Amino acid sequence: MKKFYIETFGCQMNAHDSEKVIVTLVGEGYSQVPTVDEADLVLYNTCSIRDKAEQKVYARIQDFKRRKDKIVGVLGCVAQQEGEKIFERAPHVSLVAGSASYNLLPQMLVQIEAGNRRVTGLSLDTEDTFEVPYTKRDNPHKAFLTIIEGCSKSCAYCVVPMTRGPERSRTSASVLTEARQLVEDGYSEITLLGQNVNSYLDPSETRLDFAMLLRRIGKIDGLKRVRFTTSHPRDFVKEIVDAVDENPVLCNHIHLPVQSGSTDVLNRMQRLYTRDEYMRRIEWMKNARREITITSDIIVGFPGETEEDFEQTLRLLDEVQYDAIFSFKYSQRPNTPALQYADHLSEEEKSRRLTIVQEHQRQIQIPRNAAYIGRVQEVMVDGYNKATQQWLGKSSQHKTIGFSHSAMPGPTADGATLEGSYLDVRVTRSGPNSLAGEAVV
Ligand code: SAH
Ligand code: SF4
Ligand code: F3S
Repeated sequence: MKKFYIETFGCQMNAHDSEKVIVTLVGEGYSQVPTVDEADLVLYNTCSIRDKAEQKVYARIQDFKRRKDKIVGVLGCVAQQEGEKIFERAPHVSLVAGSASYNLLPQMLVQIEAGNRRVTGLSLDTEDTFEVPYTKRDNPHKAFLTIIEGCSKSCAYCVVPMTRGPERSRTSASVLTEARQLVEDGYSEITLLGQNVNSYLDPSETRLDFAMLLRRIGKIDGLKRVRFTTSHPRDFVKEIVDAVDENPVLCNHIHLPVQSGSTDVLNRMQRLYTRDEYMRRIEWMKNARREITITSDIIVGFPGETEEDFEQTLRLLDEVQYDAIFSFKYSQRPNTPALQYADHLSEEEKSRRLTIVQEHQRQIQIPRNAAYIGRVQEVMVDGYNKATQQWLGKSSQHKTIGFSHSAMPGPTADGATLEGSYLDVRVTRSGPNSLAGEAVV
């Protein structure tokens, strides 16, 4: 039996791609092993969103070098971005393939088995999505489900349109069949994935848009929670908020990355919306009957970002009152339009702004989380933390909640656990990033 080992970096799309690559390989007669040592084929699924992520990849590929008996393959966004250059920098690599070519993996494996040591899958010229036979996921309760691949936006800083190719939506029939199958197999939470889920448009005659698809999925019997990520503000329509408002199965948490609070910067980023347009979308969520938590991504130190632009980002955080943000220093990426700008900021200045933005957001989160004290939240249990001796889970709003349970203080010796169950928890304490409480029993 041919054995493979796979390691994955990057976003949820990459994590789920790896799950699909695994199914494909198993279908071709391979079996997965947990260590590099045991493997004949070592696959490395990579991310190139920021320079640091990319540097990590080259370091790790060098680690595999000592093992001459192994075939090494580089997949994902760095593979697509660097292409055949990887063979030059790391001659021990035999396979370089980007996500838009994964449906050709079986053919690529045949070439490798035939002894070819320079196999590539780098075409982005595709209308196909990577469809694999249905399979169980790693987590028995929560599953990812891709609805749209690639990205056809052209944000000036971003490599994704070049690493994942143009947008391709799956048919609603195949999305719904997979969702029903997941529920039948015991999954109660599904996260719909895409770089830009709200650009979803059913390519079949049904022509469902994203809000319509959400409504259909939300009606599947037995499904408890549906999440989705990521939404792009430009294509974010009020029907999405209405759908969430009407159906508690659709989680009341929306990740709507703003990137900057300054319309000038947004223009130069080619984000296709103004600050005011973004704030209108926030209003829809604030006016919903359900309490929707909102999270975001922020880039600080984009070329030409003045102190005044940066202040506007801080003011936007005050106005929106996000429940969490992911913030990054702008990182120069190959072949992106932003490289042309003359006014790049120093690393020190970017670091200074990053620290300020993170501390500012922390001060917003402390009182927001404290407001949950005394309230009961439904928690889906993810597991038990031995160090803190607490069960851990997430609310529909995607808050992390640690809690104690008087009848079941921890997993028992015979394997009984609360993992995967939904419990009411009364919140008794809060911090900037999480809540804590006691299960209502
Ligand atoms: N498709 C999603 C996000 C994909 S990447 C969207 O449009 O929101 C995730 C996040 O990484 C982005 O939201 C952005 O904040 C950050 N990012 C992307 N390229 C970056 C770069 N060159 N430098 C720093 N951060 C970047
Ligand atoms: Fe990148 Fe913009 Fe596409 Fe998101 S929408 S993946 S930030 S180009
Ligand atoms: Fe990274 Fe590619 Fe995802 S660059 S963030 S793995 S789309």
